[in-house]
Amino acid sequence: MSVLEKTATEKAIEQENQYGAHNYHPLPVVLNKGEGVYVWDVEGKKYYDFLSAYSAVNQGHCHPKIVDAMSKQAETLTLTSRAFYNDMLGKFEKYATDYFNFDKLLPMNTGAEAVETALKICRRWAYEKKGIPEGEAKIIVCQNNFHGRTTTIISFSNDPVARKNFGPYTQGFIKIAYDDTSALEEALEKNDDVAGFLVEPIQGEAGVYVPSDDYLTKAKAICEKHNVLFIADEVQTGIARTGRLLATCGNCDCEDYSCSKTPEVKPDILILGKALSGGAYPVSAVLADDNVMSVITPGSHGSTFGGNPVAAAVAMAALEVVKEEKLAENAEKLGNIFRNELNKYIENSSICNLVRGKGLLNAIVINDSEDSDTAWNICLKLRDNGLLAKPTHGNIIRFAPPLVMNETQLRECLDIIISTLKEFEK
Ligand SMILES: Cc1ncc(COP(=O)(O)O)c(C=O)c1O
Repeated sequence: MSVLEKTATEKAIEQENQYGAHNYHPLPVVLNKGEGVYVWDVEGKKYYDFLSAYSAVNQGHCHPKIVDAMSKQAETLTLTSRAFYNDMLGKFEKYATDYFNFDKLLPMNTGAEAVETALKICRRWAYEKKGIPEGEAKIIVCQNNFHGRTTTIISFSNDPVARKNFGPYTQGFIKIAYDDTSALEEALEKNDDVAGFLVEPIQGEAGVYVPSDDYLTKAKAICEKHNVLFIADEVQTGIARTGRLLATCGNCDCEDYSCSKTPEVKPDILILGKALSGGAYPVSAVLADDNVMSVITPGSHGSTFGGNPVAAAVAMAALEVVKEEKLAENAEKLGNIFRNELNKYIENSSICNLVRGKGLLNAIVINDSEDSDTAWNICLKLRDNGLLAKPTHGNIIRFAPPLVMNETQLRECLDIIISTLKEFEK
């Protein structure tokens, strides 16, 4: 190859840069194949995927059962819209409501759409069931939240990069500190017209902040006391990622890690996305019991693609894989090994301060200023050493591999991570 000839990687990056909007800053690696815990770049180099498309690919890349369900359904019927019934949606709704222990499900496509849906349901419930005067309903959210990118959602973000010059913003949100039940109690005492409390069980995008053990239980009890809906955004934490089926299942000592029948906290509204399809297809959903979901009436909400037959088939297969392959249990076991081993390393490290997380949703904090590029440079080196991860917020690197990983693979990944960190020790 002549020195002037570009590699396939360079060409692909150049094309995206020239013709695509610059709304992401990807790590320079161009992927064209995935299988299980691995992805390959266009030059054929193999990597461990330690991001799993932001926890969408929990079931592993191109899981054969999910791909099979998708291709079979794609050959039969792809889209009817909700103007007509299709023979897959009801099956999926029955399957998923039983699986997650709710009366009803409302299907959407992306996580942000599901969050928007939950906010709409919550507001309607406030006017029609709680009796809040129309237009007055408030929803409490947390500092450093991440719930997606729509105009309403970024209206209550405090990330300047996500918000800047996208106003005017949607009103009706009260922001309180995360992991602070006194702040929740205080906000509810001060404000009469609160409809709901929207919370991530672990703040993933913010840098994998795990709240105190009793935070969710206490917050739910406070919401109940004030007749306020507890809305759990489990788009990232849900579906086995944190070592239980849902992060709101918490530390329940149920033998079956994939069970949702006795959750530590049962949300009034549960929001799911990402791994609901194993990353094969955009599928999201909002689940609630009848007393809440009944506020949704024909014409009040919808989506052309939401609840399409391919999504329904894919989601059922994806949820089956979670139970059949005991992914929650595996995430719990491997997550403990991951944090134990990294904690041992950190004791004598100058470059890495901290590892935190739950199940296989973890992050390390790099010992440098938030605006330094050290975490980015570590991710470039990890890439060179065969493992893909990405910084989230400056000096934090998130580690979230597919949950189909085995212990041997995890230990190999720990070797890669630790030897890479060693290259950066001062
Ligand atoms: C907690 C949470 N909610 C919502 C979303 C938005 O999901 P989507 O990107 O599918 O719109 C994300 C995405 O990262 C998320 O982590």
